Amino acid sequence: MSANGHITISNVSKIYELGNSQVVALDNISLNISKGEFIIIVGPSGSGKSTLVNIIGGVDTPDNGDVNVADMNLTQMNAGELTKYRRNHVGFLFQFYSLIPTLTAMENVLIAAELVKIKGAELKSRGAEVLKAVGLADRGDSYPSQLSGGERQRVALARALAKYPDLIMVDEPTGQLDFESGRKMIELIKEVASTYGSTVIMVTHDITLLDLADRVIQMQSGRILEE
Ligand SMILES: Nc1ncnc2c1ncn2[C@@H]1O[C@H](COP(=O)(O)OP(=O)(O)OP(=O)(O)O)[C@@H](O)[C@H]1O
Ligand SMILES: [Mg+2]
Repeated sequence: MSANGHITISNVSKIYELGNSQVVALDNISLNISKGEFIIIVGPSGSGKSTLVNIIGGVDTPDNGDVNVADMNLTQMNAGELTKYRRNHVGFLFQFYSLIPTLTAMENVLIAAELVKIKGAELKSRGAEVLKAVGLADRGDSYPSQLSGGERQRVALARALAKYPDLIMVDEPTGQLDFESGRKMIELIKEVASTYGSTVIMVTHDITLLDLADRVIQMQSGRILEE
């Protein structure tokens, strides 16, 4: 895997049919992202940010163009292969933490690790390691309802890390958090991503966070305006 060509997006378009009309969500986008980069994507509502993130994360597929992550060509994968790609390579972090309420913090984290076939003693130590990395070493037995919003978001981050992801996709992660906790959360994501060598692609409306990015990508009407 070459360091520079980690993620290569070439001439990607996505068009949604809405009755008689078409919505061009992505209009011929090309973009290269290096391994370990911390990218922030900004732009008005409806400019295509989530669509782009979903396509890179293997949640959605483009109508045209090519998407390569590491040595994998996502655009040639079938649904089963895309599921495998997401499970093995991508950590997701969204505004609503989507923790399972009936499972403890540790159990929530271990589910993600089990999916990539980590077992036994390694599974236990992996869970402990990533919970420690997000500062929750002593909260593994807590249920989501016993954790603050910021702590829940950190469990979700630990869950994303448990598979040692090549890529962490983050869409509006700080919506539920106050200004200071939100920034701390992004600083934590940046720190652990660099520890684990993960590339981060993050969508946010919070322009006070832009200084944390290695690169800011600005979108408008389905296009990349400037970097
Ligand atoms: N499933 C869909 N069907 C039809 N149109 C869609 C669908 N998903 C997204 N769109 C349209 O595609 C465009 C881009 O949407 P997208 O969700 O990528 O925007 P966004 O930049 O993430 O916006 P926001 O900041 O509000 O989250 C919008 O015009 C949206 O209405
Ligand atoms: Mg969005």
